[in-house]
Amino acid sequence: MRKLTLLALVAVSLVLERPTPATAATHALLPVPASAEFSSGGLPLDAHFGVSVRGYSDARLQRAIDRALLRIERRTGLTLSHELAKNAEPATLIVSAAAPGQAVQNVEEDESYTLEVTLQQATLRAPSVVGILRGLETLLQLVEIGKSGYVLQTAVINDKPRFPWRGLLIDPARHFLPIAVVKRNLDAMAMVKLNVLHWHLSDDEGFCVESRRYPRLQEYGSDGHYYTQDQIREIVAYARDRGIRVVPEFDLPAHTTSWFVGYPQYASAPGPYAIARTTFDIKLPAFDPTREEVYEFIEGFIGEISPLFPDPCWHIGGDEVKPDHWDANPAIQAFKAQHGFKDNAALQAYFNQKLMEILTRHGKQMMGWDEILHPGLPRETVIQSWRDAASLAQAAQMGFRGILSEGYYLDSMDTAAKHYASDPVPEGTHLDAVQAARILGGEVCAWGEYVDSENLDSRIWPRTAAIAERLWSPREVTDGADMYRRLDRMSVLLEETGVTHLSGPRVMLRRLAGSENIATLQAFLRLVEPLSADDRFDQPDHPDRLTPLVRLRDIAIPDSPGRREVGSMVDGLLRDAPRYGAFRADLEREFRGWQELPAALAALSAHAPLVRDAEPAAAKLADLGGAGREALTYFTRGETAPQQWVQSKLALLDAAAKPQANLRVAVAPALRKLILAAAKTDPPSR
Ligand code: ACM
Repeated sequence: MRKLTLLALVAVSLVLERPTPATAATHALLPVPASAEFSSGGLPLDAHFGVSVRGYSDARLQRAIDRALLRIERRTGLTLSHELAKNAEPATLIVSAAAPGQAVQNVEEDESYTLEVTLQQATLRAPSVVGILRGLETLLQLVEIGKSGYVLQTAVINDKPRFPWRGLLIDPARHFLPIAVVKRNLDAMAMVKLNVLHWHLSDDEGFCVESRRYPRLQEYGSDGHYYTQDQIREIVAYARDRGIRVVPEFDLPAHTTSWFVGYPQYASAPGPYAIARTTFDIKLPAFDPTREEVYEFIEGFIGEISPLFPDPCWHIGGDEVKPDHWDANPAIQAFKAQHGFKDNAALQAYFNQKLMEILTRHGKQMMGWDEILHPGLPRETVIQSWRDAASLAQAAQMGFRGILSEGYYLDSMDTAAKHYASDPVPEGTHLDAVQAARILGGEVCAWGEYVDSENLDSRIWPRTAAIAERLWSPREVTDGADMYRRLDRMSVLLEETGVTHLSGPRVMLRRLAGSENIATLQAFLRLVEPLSADDRFDQPDHPDRLTPLVRLRDIAIPDSPGRREVGSMVDGLLRDAPRYGAFRADLEREFRGWQELPAALAALSAHAPLVRDAEPAAAKLADLGGAGREALTYFTRGETAPQQWVQSKLALLDAAAKPQANLRVAVAPALRKLILAAAKTDPPSR
């Protein structure tokens, strides 16, 4: 069947002299569709490209087509008609939705679609407009360069998500994120088929929403950085246009200092309170769960704000409640004794029960972090697991629905490959079909302690695209190397939405250097990575919320390409045993470059003092460059490196592995491999 189609396509393409895309043998779609067949050839994308909507149509659908056309225009330089063709007219792309999709999107939304691109026409069909939105993103990834111009790669794609909940958490409470930043990230989310924006809108460091009923929340708790109610509506509408739900989180009962600056009377300890400035530590303030007026206040707030967020879910946080203020308050202790609550977890469960009643009255389903899981918790609650996948499976066995975030914390500064390997339902999880269906998916967490609107995008992207694939694609799609092949292409495409993960660090470097000449700094940053949030916590110097996030530690990106490049050169050299010729010259050049870094950076730092942050890591890199070159000499000579040499180089590696001005040398694992291999070198067979 497939052969026949291919033959037919070849025949047609010969007759019509259709161009063939450069990458006919492979494809670069990310996330990988549930099922896809590619054939050679491409549907020409030229000025005659036109779209026709058959079947259901609405403004959301038409705006999505308009945006897709604009993106094709900006990629190809073509001017396309944005008029939708009438039913009878021929069109290059037929878009056919059966229905509008849910009035308020939830986990039951049908996001499936089929996309068929032949040499003559592309047809995108879906049961709902949301499926069309997903399919349009796939279509935009099929744009390739053929022999005589742009084409859409011919393919038959039947796609649907593995998990219905594929989210990204952003945290404007630690560092405020203007709506333009939120919007560009929503566009990028849509590109990789993420469908939930989890908006962490309050924390100790900031209260980000305008309340008209309780205006002291933003007046005293926000430093003037908050979203107006109109802006919230704007973001919710913008997200809906892209098939993305917006789930607000107002973290309770702890993480609440910013509430108490204006309303200290609802706290467990007497005020006054001030907005928390440090961002790295867990704060003590918490709502007093024993007083009715506290619940009246919370209900007043939820009653006012919940209509802004049509989503069925409302996230109450519930994480990291410290016992101190509850334990120090005699009235709270008396209340616990009177109710027979044996510990603070029982008191928090009581608080959650009251919140559940409030939320139910306002038509909301409660959602919270693992800590809220308690035997008495109503089963409608959605659990977000930040501690481990096993507890998520346990929650599913108990009857709770949940999502995974453990493994998807971007501030762990892990590689895309490591995040990609985290599955919401790991191999060996024992769940029956009903229980497994309760695991709704996962959420990437872009916590805001060390990110602001300038470096947020480069922490989110492109790694989040790898996690998006984990959550959308079949579980068998696990080839990390192939993921990186597609991620590298996707990373460039993502910037067409306005996210700045590639451009942003360069802009920051130019400012830091006071010069357009940033090649040395880029060469340095290619080899290092930022410290994880946990490791930063252990460092002596803690930025606070007002510290400008402009230093090399803030500009450095995790999973820098240098780590992979050096790693694959080392692997290539070692694979070429016993000759060890492959990549030898490249590695020699690479290591020499490391040795030159300290002097090159010193020349810059005379005019740009913040460059000095590079010095400790650059010194370590220079040491490693020397060690690498010595290792290459052993390979070249066919000698086995003596143990004493190996030990001294491993000591250098250990020293380099330590944090250096809040940076870490990223290429140490590749060097370690090379050095250990040098000690077991086989003589070359000459
Ligand atoms: C969390 O990271 N405390 C949810």
